[in-house]
Amino acid sequence: MDGIIQVQHLSKIYTMEQGKKVHALEDINLDIYPNDFICIVGPSGCGKSTLLKILAGLEAPSSGSVCFQGAPIIKPSRDIGLVFQEYSLLPWRTVIDNISLGLEFNKQPKQERLAVAEQFLQLVGLQDFAGAYPYELSGGMQQRVAIARALANNPQVLLMDEPFGALDAHTRILLQKELLRIWELNRKTIVFVTHSVDEAIYLADSIVVMSPHLGRIKEVIKVDIPRPRDRANPKYGQMASEILTMLEVE
Ligand SMILES: Nc1ncnc2c1ncn2[C@@H]1O[C@H](COP(=O)(O)OP(=O)(O)OP(=O)(O)O)[C@@H](O)[C@H]1O
Ligand SMILES: [Mg+2]
Repeated sequence: MDGIIQVQHLSKIYTMEQGKKVHALEDINLDIYPNDFICIVGPSGCGKSTLLKILAGLEAPSSGSVCFQGAPIIKPSRDIGLVFQEYSLLPWRTVIDNISLGLEFNKQPKQERLAVAEQFLQLVGLQDFAGAYPYELSGGMQQRVAIARALANNPQVLLMDEPFGALDAHTRILLQKELLRIWELNRKTIVFVTHSVDEAIYLADSIVVMSPHLGRIKEVIKVDIPRPRDRANPKYGQMASEILTMLEVE
């Protein structure tokens, strides 16, 4: 089976204002299969967001290739949805109008648009907040709206860059559960960046561990703990300590 996303010998070099070159990614090779839930972990500055931006078609590779269903990713597409850490909702639009934004761009008739948006609003448990404005919602609720908005476009792949990073521990755990439930219902391919090794083990089929400095993949680890995962499972703790050790070395 071919990967839905294929990354081959991908490198990204940024030139900073002062002319200094930064190797954000170096020779990344990765195959992501349909319905996979992949987490990427690694310390700050190791290139996680750069990789996601390239997968989203927002940045171009310096060398190597990145393909979606066999075709190079050169610009953003409806098949690949994005959720960033900052909720990025439009403050002047209500919740329902934020969710239906992509459908509006797509010239879908208003009634259809609203029906789809309502369906996803319900999926994230915010059906009572359709008419609210983003500032009237908590951070966790705004993040749910951002997830609903990404899902409403029915992408095949969902890229998530530390989507729960700004949330308190309790809300974070609730949204992790919710994301897994949604993923099981909708069967998307998810690539999820996180700083949290615990979060990665809770969510992922496979964890991509990045090297601290070089912008390289250090290891890809399969998480063979049945879902729903119990944090008290000794395998869970063992895996966490293995990954943390990997991130410490170097
Ligand atoms: N637009 C840019 N111009 C120049 N350098 C950049 C640019 N974007 C990122 N970089 C550099 O590329 C490297 C990787 O950045 P990136 O944002 O991908 O890291 P990250 O792993 O997402 O970090 P964090 O966990 O802090 O979000 C960093 O050294 C950063 O300074
Ligand atoms: Mg980042």
